Order: sequence, then structure tokens, then C-alpha cells
Amino acid sequence: MTDQPLLKALAGQAVEPVPCWFMRQAGRFLPEYRKIRQEAGSFLDLCYNPELASEVTLQPLRRFDMDAAIVFADILLIPQALGMKVWFEQGEGPRLAPPVEQAGMTALSEPANMSLLQPVYETVKKTRQALTPEKSLIGFAGAPWTVATYMLRGQGSKDPASLRALYYQNPELVETLLEKISTATINYLSQQIDHGADAIQLFDSWAGGLPETLLHRLCLEPSQKIAVALKKKHPKTPIIIFPRGAGPSLTDYAEIPEFDAIGIDTSTPWNWVKKHISPKKTVQGGLDPLLVVKGGEEMVSAARKLKQVFAGSPYIFNLGHGFVPHTPPENVALLMQAIRQ
Ligand code: CP3
Repeated sequence: MTDQPLLKALAGQAVEPVPCWFMRQAGRFLPEYRKIRQEAGSFLDLCYNPELASEVTLQPLRRFDMDAAIVFADILLIPQALGMKVWFEQGEGPRLAPPVEQAGMTALSEPANMSLLQPVYETVKKTRQALTPEKSLIGFAGAPWTVATYMLRGQGSKDPASLRALYYQNPELVETLLEKISTATINYLSQQIDHGADAIQLFDSWAGGLPETLLHRLCLEPSQKIAVALKKKHPKTPIIIFPRGAGPSLTDYAEIPEFDAIGIDTSTPWNWVKKHISPKKTVQGGLDPLLVVKGGEEMVSAARKLKQVFAGSPYIFNLGHGFVPHTPPENVALLMQAIRQ
């Protein structure tokens, strides 16, 4: 599968034209997704329906010519396998029960119910079979800290400082939880690879705002542990880490050989990355997803500039975070044109 442009870039090559895919490309902004979503019932029903989830995974590649599909699933399937109830409140986001902060670790399943995730592996298999050989299939999971933030409080936290306070008060609880998530995640990602995922991305969406020591202990080290374990079993499968908000600590991530690529968020200055991250390390992302809502010349010139900054070094075009639901599909088409030019 080394004919895949994405895998070439992940192996450290500067690929022309630059390979691209987009976070949150599956679902949300495409009208054909919303149709299938209605057919499936709830969002989670869709995640556990291999036929429909595979279709949703492929939808963006039918419209646009990106180089990779990302498996349609969610980072909150792991908490379900760990025994939590998970649902989505309309317009408010995810809810999980009972919150680990209150219920403690004993409320979680021991061992984890990993068989619940079997449909995701079926989705991976079906999708890999449907993709042409030059397209890559990206499997993913949430990094332990990001998943833990939802499990501890039972919902997305609007106050990251209070999570830090919780850690200082009860480090054992948080560390045991991270350990439990990590073990399940290693198994989950390993199965995704066994079923046909060509590369893996770890989303650490809530890595921002932590002091350096906590960023290392809660985000970098657990993600590194997962990457090391995966590489033992699957030495050839590249791993992309996306520690959103990590700022200058991205240099620490870049020094870890098990991370084949570093995802950069919207607020990371591109020239800072050029200056401080080894030109041998593959970089991914950076374009403000809200610029794709705006579209037009402003988006196109930003995309050109981003390409220019990373020209000659291994780079994968992507956003600084996911597409928002009201992104006009025609702007994505224009963006693709600018990337391919
Ligand atoms: O296209 C893709 O990126 C693949 C599928 C994917 C989803 N979620 C589908 C989804 C991926 C990679 C994720 C990751 C994810 N899920 C993250 C990390 C990345 C990030 O965006 O920061 C997080 C934090 C979650 C948790 C989550 N899932 C939230 C907070 C929400 C609700 C709010 C929202 O943004 O809609 C979801 C729901 C969700 N996950 C949807 C999709 C398509 C929307 C469901 C719907 O209403 O159709």
C-alpha cells in the first residue's frame, strides 16, 4: 500500500501534489450524510451500523478527491465499551453516565466489553474493500486525556481549569482512569489495523491549557504508551498525533519516534512549526476550518500560503480542527482545487 500518497508523506517524503484529507470530513456538513443519519435513527446507531457507517465514510471521497477516508465512528465509543451510558442531547453535545468523578472506577465494566466495538471493525473492513488502492483509510481513537475529560464529568467540560483541580485533588483516580482507557484503546486500534486501517490518528482535542508537567503526564505519556504498544504489533502502521492546544510543547511530541506525524491546530503559527519542528517530521493540518465557511479568495490564498510554507518537507494538508456543520460543500470543492493546483 506504499503507493498511497498519504503513506508516502507519513513515511517522511515531501509529496507533490500534497496529500490531503479533512478532520470531520465524514458527516455533519454533507446533505447526503444527513439523509443517512435520519435513516439510521440516532448518531450512535449509525456508528454501530457497518453498512451505513461505511457509506458515510466514503461519501466525502465520492464528491471530492481527497487522499484518505476516516472511519465513521466516535471517540466516545470507548467509554461505552468501558460500561458507561452514552447519548447525545440535541444541540448540547454528548452526555455520559454515571460520571466517574462521582461514581468512581468500580462503576465501570471489568473487563471492558470490547465486543461492543465489533461493528466498527466491520466498517473498517467494508470500507477498505470499497476504496481504490491509492486511497488510505484512517482509523482513530481519542487520546486518553480527551476521553477521560468526558468520562470524569459526564459531558464536555466548559471549564478546563476545574479538571486540573480535580487531578490535583485525586491524581490516583485520574491516572487509573487513563490507564483503563489506554488499555482498551490499544486493543481497539490494533483491531482497526487488523481489519484494514492504513494509518491511525489519536485525537487529543483537550490537550490545551495544561501546565507542561501535566501535559506530559496526562497527554503526551499516555499517547506515547499507546503508540509504542501499537508499533510493537504493527510496526509499519503510521500514527498521527493531534494534541490540540499543545503550543510549543509540540516540539516534545515531535521528538517521539512512534509519532509519525504531528497535527497542528488552528492557532499554531506555521512558520514557528517550520522553525522548531525537525524538517524530517511529517506535519499535518493548520488551516482554520472557519475560513472554509467563508470560502472565496481569502480561503484560497491561505491554503496556497500553507502549502508554500511546507513545500519541500513532508506535509499533509488538513484543517486546524474539524469542519463545522454549516460548511458549504462548494467551498470544500474550491479548497480542493486550490490544494491540487
Ligand atoms: O469525519 C470524521 O472526522 C470521522 C468521524 C468522527 C466523529 N467524531 C463523528 C461525529 C471523528 C473523528 C470524531 C472525533 C471526536 N468525537 C472528537 C475529537 C475530534 C474533535 O472534533 O475535537 C470529539 C471530542 C468527539 C466527541 C463528540 N462527538 C462530540 C463533542 C460531539 C457532538 C458535538 C458535535 O460536534 O457535533 C460528537 C458527535 C459527532 N461525532 C457527530 C459526528 C458526525 C455529529 C453527530 C450528528 O449529530 O450527526
